[in-house]
Amino acid sequence: MASLETRIGMLHLKNPVMPASGTFGYGEEFAPLFDLNELGAIVSKAVSLHPRPGNLPPRLVELKSSLLNSIGLQNPGAEGFLREKIPFLEGFEPPLIVNVVGNGIEEYQEVVEKLDECPRVDGFEINLSCPNVKRGLEFGTTHSGVERITTALRQSTRKPLWVKLSPNVPDPADLGKAAEGAGADAIVAINTLGGMAVDIEKKRPILGAQFGGVSGPAVKPVALKIVWNLYKHLTIPVIGVGGIMNGRDAIEFLMAGATAVQVGTANFINPCAMIDILREIRSWMDSHEVGRLEELIGAAHP
Ligand SMILES: Cc1cc2nc3c(=O)[nH]c(=O)nc-3n(C[C@H](O)[C@H](O)[C@H](O)COP(=O)(O)O)c2cc1C
Repeated sequence: MASLETRIGMLHLKNPVMPASGTFGYGEEFAPLFDLNELGAIVSKAVSLHPRPGNLPPRLVELKSSLLNSIGLQNPGAEGFLREKIPFLEGFEPPLIVNVVGNGIEEYQEVVEKLDECPRVDGFEINLSCPNVKRGLEFGTTHSGVERITTALRQSTRKPLWVKLSPNVPDPADLGKAAEGAGADAIVAINTLGGMAVDIEKKRPILGAQFGGVSGPAVKPVALKIVWNLYKHLTIPVIGVGGIMNGRDAIEFLMAGATAVQVGTANFINPCAMIDILREIRSWMDSHEVGRLEELIGAAHP
C-alpha cells in the first residue's frame, strides 16, 4: 500500500491532509464523526490575544461554487484557548498547529509566546491575510511587512512557523520569499479572496460586515497557480489550500508543488471530507502504482 508520509521542515506527518483554519473549529464537533487521529495534522481556528466576539450576522452566504464568509475571527483568546480547548486536543496525536492572528506585531508575538510554553502546541500558522479584519491586512500585503512580522515571530518561538498568505496581493510569490528569507518553515497558500454579495430586494450588502472572504471550488484555480509559483521560487515546503473538495483536487495541488493540503469549505458539505480525500489519494496512488507521496510533489512541473 502507498505511503502517504510527508515532511514539513522538522514535522513528520503520517499523511498530507489537515483542516483549513476556521472550518474545523478546535475539532470538538468533528470528533464524534471520525477519529481525529486519522489526520496528518490539526490546524486550529484563529487564536488572538483577547477573546473576539466576531462580526455581526449574517456571516455566511452560500453562492454557486463558492462560500462567502465574514466570521471576524471569533475565538476565546489565547488564555481561553489554553484553558478550554487544549485539554480536549491533548487526547489526540496529530501535530497541533495553532492559527494566530493579531492587531499588530506585538500582539502576534504575545500570542505565540503564550502558546509556545504549551507542550501540546507543535507549531504556528500565522494568518497574515484575513480580509475581514481591517488592521491585520497591512502585514500581509507588502514584502517588508511580511519580512518584519516573520522576523519578529521567529524570535518568539523555535517551533515550526508557517506563514499563511493572502491571495489579495499582486505577487504572492514575492511575499513567500520574504517569509522564507525571514525564517518561516513553510508557506500556506491561500486564504480567502476578498468578495461581497448584495441583497437586491433590501438594496444592501448581505453580510453584516459588508465584505467577506470567498472560498470553495471557485478559488481552486487561483490557489493552484499561487502554489505552483511558490514551489518554483521557494525552497521551503508549500501547503496548498483552496477549493479542495476531493482526492483528485488534492493530487492537483500536490503535483503543482504542495507538500501537504488543507481542506476547508468541503468540511461544511461533508464533515468526513478529509477522511474521504485521504482514502481517494491512497486509492489513486495504488491504482497508478505510486509508492510514495513524494513522487507526486511538484510532478506537474517540467
Ligand atoms: C468559515 C471560514 C472561516 C475561516 N477562518 C479562518 C481563520 O480563522 N484563519 C485563517 O487563516 N483562515 C480562515 N479561513 C480560510 C480557510 O482556512 C482557507 O484558507 C480558505 O477557506 C480556502 O480554502 P477552502 O476553499 O478549502 O475553504 C476561513 C474560511 C472559512 C470558510
